[in-house]
Amino acid sequence: MIVDIHSHVLPGLDDGAPSMEEAILLTENAAANGVTHIIATPHLNDKYRNHAKQIKEAVADLNKELFRKRIPVDIFPGQEVQFFSCLNALGDGHLLTLADGGKYLLIELPDDHFPEFTFELLFSLQIEGYIPIIPHPERNVVLRKEKQLLYELVTKGVLLQVTANSLFGANGRTAKKCSLELIKHNLVHFISSDAHHPIQRPFLLREGYQFIERKFSTNLRNYFIENAKHVLQGTDFQPLPPISFKHTRAYKR
Ligand SMILES: [Fe+2]
Repeated sequence: MIVDIHSHVLPGLDDGAPSMEEAILLTENAAANGVTHIIATPHLNDKYRNHAKQIKEAVADLNKELFRKRIPVDIFPGQEVQFFSCLNALGDGHLLTLADGGKYLLIELPDDHFPEFTFELLFSLQIEGYIPIIPHPERNVVLRKEKQLLYELVTKGVLLQVTANSLFGANGRTAKKCSLELIKHNLVHFISSDAHHPIQRPFLLREGYQFIERKFSTNLRNYFIENAKHVLQGTDFQPLPPISFKHTRAYKR
């Protein structure tokens, strides 16, 4: 059982698969990567206003099609909530947790800055009972330099997800280096695909896990695989103890 907690497979909802045909191709790409369970996480931001009901309907349609075509992958609903859309969505009841389990929430930070009230917003989500997961922190230009901020977030119960293609340099050398350092400091909890397209932004999970096994250990690979299962099941897990970046200068906020 291999679970991918972050992907854009649902047809026509965002910048992922544009049609049912493409969604099937993308899901076949997932199956070829050994993925058996996909949490579909269409964007919720200024451009894509995907809300819970719409996403659940799209998941049901795609599952029907996969069953008909005998593709052995199950899709579950989720959402990638842009940081600035989060507060509004909280207020109007449109937030959808990963696999609709009521616990894990994928909250996307901007790539070009670190919002001043990040700690406050994430803390308010925790008070509401959510566990925030930040996808691809390795893409954020501030966090790449100020990794101690990520250490602080993780010590406060926030979880981090690195994208598989970052391990291979698809998001640049700095993102790759950052991903490896975060992993070494026990700050990464999940590897996922953030798949959008079977060729341009594919699943790459098999390669990602093989890379982790080769570069780190089989135990670490299994840790990532098990953590993703916990997200699917909406259950808690014990993260590895985070290791501080002792020489990183403090970020002013
Ligand atoms: Fe994404």
